[in-house]
Parts: sequence; structure tokens; C-alpha cells
Amino acid sequence: MPTICLIPGDGVGREVIPAAAQVLGVVLPGVQFIEADAGWDCFLRTGTALPDATVEAVAGADGTLFGATQSPMSGDLTPQPPSLAGKGEVNSSPLAGKGEVNSPPLAGEGVGERSSPGRGSYRSPILALRKHFDLYANLRPTTNLLSQAPGAAVDLLIVRENTEGLYAGRERWEDADTAIAERVITRRASERIARVAFEQARQRRANRKSQIANPKVTIIHKANVLKLTDGLFRETCLAAAREFPDVTVNEMLVDAAAMWLVKDPSRFDVIVTTNLFGDILSDLAAGLVGGLGVAPSANVGAGRIAVCEPVHGSAPDIAGQGIANPIGAILSAAMLLDHLGEPAAADRVRRAVANSVAAAILTPDLGGAATTAHVTGAICRQL
Ligand code: NAI
Ligand code: MG
Repeated sequence: MPTICLIPGDGVGREVIPAAAQVLGVVLPGVQFIEADAGWDCFLRTGTALPDATVEAVAGADGTLFGATQSPMSGDLTPQPPSLAGKGEVNSSPLAGKGEVNSPPLAGEGVGERSSPGRGSYRSPILALRKHFDLYANLRPTTNLLSQAPGAAVDLLIVRENTEGLYAGRERWEDADTAIAERVITRRASERIARVAFEQARQRRANRKSQIANPKVTIIHKANVLKLTDGLFRETCLAAAREFPDVTVNEMLVDAAAMWLVKDPSRFDVIVTTNLFGDILSDLAAGLVGGLGVAPSANVGAGRIAVCEPVHGSAPDIAGQGIANPIGAILSAAMLLDHLGEPAAADRVRRAVANSVAAAILTPDLGGAATTAHVTGAICRQL
């Protein structure tokens, strides 16, 4: 029986990961769980957002389910511009304090000596895990769960490059009024993410999970403006396409792709794109089928390690109320089952989710009044 590492993290991560574990316990009797710590609360308690013990637990497990973590915004733990640094002024986020964002306190505020981490030392644990284990592909499938969802049928997979682009972590102050982020695109990362996309298109077709007759990959970029970076991404993807003559390839500029995703999502089968575009478009796609509460994902690389996680964050606006939708986490557990070579168990979970949704047992984000526990119980009874 496999050992699965659970990292609930912060906020609703602590509500949806136990729900997903409950489902895994039903379809994989005898599964072993090990729970590991990460996130903002962990950072405040221990001084690190991703303890070494957690990295070791991920390395030792057969698969990992990650919940969500909360990250500080600009001005909380980010380096200050040269003219402000060291002068004790706080460069707060434009949203902070307006009630729109639940800003965490500055490190050290309200916490004792033991747990006062150094400024600037917080790093998103999921980004760190992706980097540490070179989980270069982020697979984000979107399918209709709600039959009443408006628009055409949605059955697509976004393959997001996970290690570089604008999330390469190369941000700096040029002067007090100018901040710069470098966008890194390499041939190596573009080539390997393109291969994942073409292979996924083939596999979706083989599994009959795609409603599109011919497998298709759409390369999404902005090479008309970002001529070097997205030019390299586009050309590398098109070159990789030649190894997959059975897969139709086309391309679209990211802004038009956003429009087409809303207007006619049935145009898409597999999308391959860079890190930030993939992040944004996958939230948009989730919005087509009920929202972030139902969106799953898997972070995979060349090896056996996989970290599956709901696409959503810690949802501070609803955390602690017992109403978080567990479906995104439960469908992420199904992706983990596929990765563990348990496709029958994965399909059982997906069918149980679909049946429970069809029975209108829904959390408030989907228009219902059920709690996390009700929905999880209903899904387990469908198994
Ligand atoms: P969010 O995904 O936490 O929430 C966005 C909206 O979706 C909220 O209205 C929330 O209530 C709703 N939502 C999210 N998950 C839900 C669920 N399971 N059931 C029902 N509704 C759900 O994104 P937001 O508010 O932008 O970020 C909150 C925090 O999460 C931030 O600190 C951010 O850095 C972090 N975050 C972490 C991620 C991760 O750990 N992988 C990913 C995205 C954000
Ligand atoms: Mg996101």
C-alpha cells in the first residue's frame, strides 16, 4: 500500500486535505498517511515555511497531497526599495488595509524570539517544492461538473510550465521608483513542457477523456510582443510538435485565448503555456465550471515524485467556517491515484464526485448549503 504525504498548510487547506484523505482511505484501504507542516503559520511558529522534515517526507512518500498556503503580499516580507530600506518605512501593498486582502502580520509581530524569522526569508512552499523536486509540469484539467454550467462543454487540460517565466524569482529594485522582474524562458524547459503537453494529448485521447476527436495542442504565448522570450517558447513548442504527427498543433495569443476560453471553451483540448499565463488562464477556466473550489492540479517532473494540489489558495474569506468545497482537493487526490498507477480508483473517485454534484449536494460556492463534511460524506457514500 502506498504512503501518501499530506501537507494541509493554511486556511481551507486544513479543511479540504482531511476530506481528500477520507476519500483516499475508502478507495485505497490500508493506505498510509504521513502529515507534514508548511506555510505561513508554520513560518510564524518555526521560522521556516518549508521545514527540511517536510521535504524529506515528500521525498520518501509515494505521492503528496498539498492543501494551500497563505503568502504575505508586497510590503510584508519583501525587500524594500533602496531609498526606503533601513529607514523603517513600510512600503505597503496598494490593497493592504483596504479590507480587500487579508494581510498577514509582519514577521516578528506578535510572535516571540523563538519564532521571529528574518525579513525576506518567506518563500512560498509550493514554489519551493516545485523547484526542489524539479516538478516542471503543472497539469490543470477543467471539466464540467455542473450540468447547468453556461456555455459549451468544457473538457480541457492546461499544461503550465512550472519552473521559470515571470515566476523565476528574479525581481529587483532598479531605483526607488522602478521595480523590475525578469522573465526567463529557456529552450530546455520549453522543450520538456511541450513534450508533456503532446504526450498528455495522446493519453487523453487514448483514455477517451477528451471529447475532441483528434488530440490537439494549442500553444499559448504573446510572441508578437515578447519576441525573444515567447518567440523561443513558441518555436521550441512547434519544433517538438514534429515528433507528434498524430497530434494537431495550433497557436493563439494569450489575450485572444482568454476571450475564446470564455466564448467557446470547446475549441481547446490541451493548452501549453508559460508559467504566469498558465496560472491566470487556469483560474479563468475554473471559473467556467463553478470556480476555484472544484479545480484540481498535479505538479510532476521526470521522476516518480508528484505533488497534487487544488488550484485554490488558503481562502481566508471562508476559512474556519467548514464550508470550503473539498472537490478540488478530492479531484487532486484522483490525479494522485492516476500517478500511483491506480486509474480504476481514480475513475471511481471522479464518478463519485460527479454523482454527488448531480445529486445537488453542493457547498455555497456552487450555490448550495452543504458543508465540507456533508459533501465529503456524500462522495464517500457514492464510492
Ligand atoms: P483563493 O484561491 O484562496 O480564493 C479565491 C476565491 O475563491 C475566494 O473567494 C475563496 O473563498 C474562493 N475559494 C477558494 N478555495 C475555495 C474552496 N475550496 N471552496 C470554496 N471557495 C473557495 O485566492 P486568494 O484569495 O487570491 O488568495 C488567498 C491566499 O492564498 C493568499 O495568501 C495567496 O498567496 C494564497 N494562495 C496560495 C496558493 C497555493 O498554496 N498553491 C494558490 C493561490 C493563492
Ligand atoms: Mg493561481
